[in-house]
Amino acid sequence: MTRLDSKTRAAARPLPLNQILAGDCVEMMNALPENSVDLIFADPPYNLQLKGELHRPDNSRVDAVDDHWDQFSGFAAYDQFTRAWMAAARRILKPDGAIWVIGSYHNIFRVGAELQNQGFWILNDVVWRKANPMPNFRGKRLTNAHETMIWASKSEGAKYTFNYEALKSLNEGVQMRSDWVLPICTGGERLKDAEGAKAHPTQKPESLLHRILIGSTNPGDVVLDPFFGTGTTGAVAKMLGRNFIGIEREEAYREVAEKRLARVRRLDSDAIATTKAKRAEPRVPFGQVVERGMLRPGEELYSMNSRHKAKVRADGSLIGNDVKGSIHQVGAALEGAPSCNGWTYWHFRREGKMIPIDILRQQIRAEMDDTRPH
Ligand SMILES: C[S@@+](CC[C@H](N)C(=O)[O-])C[C@H]1O[C@@H](n2cnc3c(N)ncnc32)[C@H](O)[C@@H]1O
Repeated sequence: MTRLDSKTRAAARPLPLNQILAGDCVEMMNALPENSVDLIFADPPYNLQLKGELHRPDNSRVDAVDDHWDQFSGFAAYDQFTRAWMAAARRILKPDGAIWVIGSYHNIFRVGAELQNQGFWILNDVVWRKANPMPNFRGKRLTNAHETMIWASKSEGAKYTFNYEALKSLNEGVQMRSDWVLPICTGGERLKDAEGAKAHPTQKPESLLHRILIGSTNPGDVVLDPFFGTGTTGAVAKMLGRNFIGIEREEAYREVAEKRLARVRRLDSDAIATTKAKRAEPRVPFGQVVERGMLRPGEELYSMNSRHKAKVRADGSLIGNDVKGSIHQVGAALEGAPSCNGWTYWHFRREGKMIPIDILRQQIRAEMDDTRPH
């Protein structure tokens, strides 16, 4: 019998898609094959360093993040933890994969420095401005109304996924900016335990993950969340036809997430399809129209209103009213305009009808498409 080392065993194993893995995220990620996931979304412990309880002016207790999973002995311990999970995440990320990490002022600067130390290439930092932040009860500091997300590719020059057009479409045709105003998770979306209390102190809104997954993944991609909590990443990934792998150490959170995921319906492929970048159309010189006999040298072309006309020459140029040049130059000169799109300006006559010469270019492009490998 041949003995396989742990790495070879991991590489041979299929990915545990659409499952929640129970345990420590470093150990769990180390058991997955390297270069196997497309995107990592990490919402690590914040290291809030809360000292004592926080109360509102009416003396009611604020439900803050004081759970044991957020306790570290100091910055050194937190940095060591960050180094470990990030290195494990980096190993399993595909070369063209990317990572998003969300954090607050307590941890995000330390996380950002470590991303750069490990060779990730920061693409953007996004400010999630909370439309409905928790007020500052003591009045001693500014209301903390945002969190920061860092988006980084595995390395400089990696071909990471960015669905520019889809995000623009999500933003009503305007380029998506790096400041996102979205409400924190409240109301029906906020998961509750049997006593009606919040099931998790830091459940993220689905709107945030929706934007991230639309913008930086494609249907069928594998998205891993090493700090799964209530499974927000998994819920949105499932809905949008992406695969997820969640890792969570706490059993209570895993149970909440499992129930939540069972309720999510995967959208059908029509609903998931996103706006793609317009493919650059191949350039067709007007000369080709002439060479191929679609228009004969000597044939007359007309402007739409027939005010101007020009003759086609054998070299693919036009001559009209003593002006010679390309279809664009002659059109511009006759109109006295700084520029002109000759393809839409010029028309030829067939059976009494005016037909734009662009039809001939489209015909050539369609033939090119047919001969391209599909
Ligand atoms: C900030 S919360 C994530 C919340 C999640 N994004 C959501 O929307 O519900 C961090 C989570 O990481 C888990 N966690 C902390 N350390 C972990 C570790 N070493 N391995 C696995 N899970 C861990 C905690 O139990 C907690 O649920």
